[in-house]
Amino acid sequence: MQVTLKILRFDPAKDQRPHWQTYQVEAEPTDRVLDLLHKVKWEQDGTLAFRRSCGHGICGSDAMLINGRNRLACKTLVKDLGKVITVEPIRGLPVEKDLIVDMEPFFAAYRAVKPFLINEEPPPQRERLQSPEERERFDHGTKCILCASCTTSCPVFWVNGTYLGPAAIVQAHRFIFDSRDRGKRERFKALGSGSGVWRCRTAYNCTEACPREIPVTQLIEEVKREILFDRF
Ligand code: SF4
Ligand code: FES
Repeated sequence: MQVTLKILRFDPAKDQRPHWQTYQVEAEPTDRVLDLLHKVKWEQDGTLAFRRSCGHGICGSDAMLINGRNRLACKTLVKDLGKVITVEPIRGLPVEKDLIVDMEPFFAAYRAVKPFLINEEPPPQRERLQSPEERERFDHGTKCILCASCTTSCPVFWVNGTYLGPAAIVQAHRFIFDSRDRGKRERFKALGSGSGVWRCRTAYNCTEACPREIPVTQLIEEVKREILFDRF
């Protein structure tokens, strides 16, 4: 089948503003959008710039706006989209070229919540033990691949780029609810600040956008409650 691929292009070296460019591509219904982007780049227009690495929904590098929704290009099939497919960069981050955005603000928020185990207590002889139920408590967050689909679908993030955003809060949740961790108050400094969880308006865009089916909004609410109850 012939597919019309409309891609929002922007080259800061020569363009004043982004513009749409249309390509006709031969595709199978089971092709992924990533396959179509490769066809364009390898067979029609080598100047097209986009990110991808694993090609299998693991690295999180090819999140883009496909037919108006944040998705991973390597997990989105042509048969689920129709014969006209629009592709744009994810929103709210500066575009470096075409579908490639500057991820630094996103990772700055990630670093701000200290996404690592904090525990200054002397380590036991062997590992720090944890029950299956305790491990289950933060299971959702361990599935995050830092693709930024949630954060860049959030209207609060579009309006206020200083908001930590859903992905950083998911990462914070992963450690706050880890029974081995002792660092939640350190994380609360960023999470409870004016750029933290209270900016969330519970729009649910993040949960809809997540390709890993993480209940992002629920995790944000759990972090909010943890900050509130920590005062008592
Ligand atoms: S929570 Fe989901 S959408 Fe957000 S960065 Fe992680 S995997 Fe991507
Ligand atoms: S290329 Fe790695 S998640 Fe799509």
